[in-house]
Amino acid sequence: MLIVYHSQSGASARLAASCWLGALEHNAAVRIERAADVGALEIKQSAGVLLVCAENSGRLSGGMKDLLDRVFYPLSSAGCSLPYALLISAGNDGRGAVAEAQRILRGIPFTEALEPRIIRGFPDLEALKSAEELGAGFATGLEMGIF
Ligand SMILES: Cc1cc2nc3c(=O)[nH]c(=O)nc-3n(C[C@H](O)[C@H](O)[C@H](O)COP(=O)(O)O)c2cc1C
Repeated sequence: MLIVYHSQSGASARLAASCWLGALEHNAAVRIERAADVGALEIKQSAGVLLVCAENSGRLSGGMKDLLDRVFYPLSSAGCSLPYALLISAGNDGRGAVAEAQRILRGIPFTEALEPRIIRGFPDLEALKSAEELGAGFATGLEMGIF
């Protein structure tokens, strides 16, 4: 399982770290990487991908969009179809980023394993707990082979 994040203020990074903690309890093989540090190879080597980033100007954050632009053709031409989960950090919305990510990922095509989650505001303890649960749920599903 691969957790990939892009973060400017640290909000998405904190959420991604909580996802990682939750996932680790169920799957020792979980990796966490910055979007800029991975490409199609690392994604192909994973059983599923959990993407964590912000909504910026109603869209997916630029760093995450850059990753998806880089991997789209290499993954789709290789027939790589993986389950994914999505966590968006937002100020007051997040729906635009969710819709854009879903549209791109459907095209590869990746399968949405869990309902996308939006955390609004700088993540407090409750938000971090929610991210931990998302990581745990995704890791468990992958481990059980239900996605
Ligand atoms: C340039 C910019 C554009 C933003 N646009 C939106 C937006 O369209 N909708 C929203 O809900 N929040 C928006 N935000 C707020 C961020 O999504 C929010 O602060 C998020 O937690 C940032 O996470 P990060 O710093 O880890 O990338 C924007 C922030 C910045 C810096």
